Amino acid sequence: MKYAVLFTAVLAGVYSDYSLPESFRRCRQQDLKLNDCLRQAVPDALRKMREGVPSLSVPRMEPLHVASINIDSGAGPVVITQDYKNIKLHGLTDSVLTTYKADLKSYRLRTDSLTPKMEFIADYVMKGRILVLPIQGKGVANITMLNLVVKHDLIGEPVTRDGQTYMHIRDYRVKFIPKKVLLHFSNLFNGDKRLGDQMNLFLNQNSDLVFNELKESYERSLSSVFQDVTNKIFDKVPMNRIFPEE
Ligand SMILES: *[C@@H]1O[C@H](CO)[C@@H](O)[C@H](O)[C@H]1NC(C)=O
Repeated sequence: MKYAVLFTAVLAGVYSDYSLPESFRRCRQQDLKLNDCLRQAVPDALRKMREGVPSLSVPRMEPLHVASINIDSGAGPVVITQDYKNIKLHGLTDSVLTTYKADLKSYRLRTDSLTPKMEFIADYVMKGRILVLPIQGKGVANITMLNLVVKHDLIGEPVTRDGQTYMHIRDYRVKFIPKKVLLHFSNLFNGDKRLGDQMNLFLNQNSDLVFNELKESYERSLSSVFQDVTNKIFDKVPMNRIFPEE
């Protein structure tokens, strides 16, 4: 029992020691221009997280690694099962924020980001049909989104631990609105070059249709990645050290 108390006290000491890296710009809760401050500070922090932040176990952000995404697109013109592994997202740290709306009293953050070029590179396996065409392959996928607008909606809640309040993000919603999507899948149809080239051409000619059918699955997977990264910081650093009260 004595040990348990001691152990908890030690842990508590460790937990409450976490802070944002010194180099991150702070935005004060009472700042009348809080939104403007965050609009600058967040992408600035993202750039400083390119290599990750080991002290907070924040992974490398450039590129950001994602273990796997499985997509089962059911009905409609695009019916494909796709498994992506070894995913690398390039370009996130070049994002700027066009708007920021922080409502700290209700633990809600909303922001729109603009990423000039986001490359999604992964090992893929897929099988299915697009319109009337069968498609199957196993190789490397490159899905590149140009001038990608992402609408982020972070819904948080206060979590109190050892007398400190943390802003835990319990729901992270994203909407992807790319200006243009370029798709390339290597080694389609067991490496048949003629069929593969034709299919890649076809996919790009219909990239709006193809992307729209898959968008929701990408959004769901990536929002959980963004949520994890955010909570790596928000679950460790007390809220009043992220947004100082004065
Ligand atoms: C992915 O595709 C884009 C657009 O076609 C291209 O600029 C980029 O170099 C490709 N990346 C890789 C790793 O092949």
